Amino acid sequence: MKIGIGNDHSALELKAEIIEFLENKGHEVVDFGTNSAESCDYPVYGEKVARAVVSGEVDQGILICGTGLGISLAANKVKGIRAAVCSEPFTARMARQHNNCNILAFGARVVGGELAKMIVETWLDTEFEGGRHQRRVDMISAIEEKNE
Ligand code: RB5
Repeated sequence: MKIGIGNDHSALELKAEIIEFLENKGHEVVDFGTNSAESCDYPVYGEKVARAVVSGEVDQGILICGTGLGISLAANKVKGIRAAVCSEPFTARMARQHNNCNILAFGARVVGGELAKMIVETWLDTEFEGGRHQRRVDMISAIEEKNE
């Protein structure tokens, strides 16, 4: 799978761990930054990854900031994005299985490296279930249409 990854300054070390983990599993990773420890604005990187997911440049996205919140909120402003903050594997599984989320977010100040890898692994191993969940995801998309 081709995965876009983005982060702010709080997540440099964790991102490096996650990229290594993904590449060892045979995934292709596109790094949208930041790669500087200087304080930066997470919406920039949330939007970059979100646009890459929507355009099909990457299959799915991973976003990391301090909490996972700000960067996922930014990504969720892009039409077609369903970004979920997951701090444990159960939510990550449900976010794929029931919500067909296309971006996983978590917080570098919330989860450690090993837990983050379990979350990522669960996310990547879980397929959308469809059925009644498709109707609900379509309802979310319909809300976006009303904004235009
Ligand atoms: C940066 O200090 C911090 O606000 C950011 O990483 C993130 O947690 C925002 O939601």
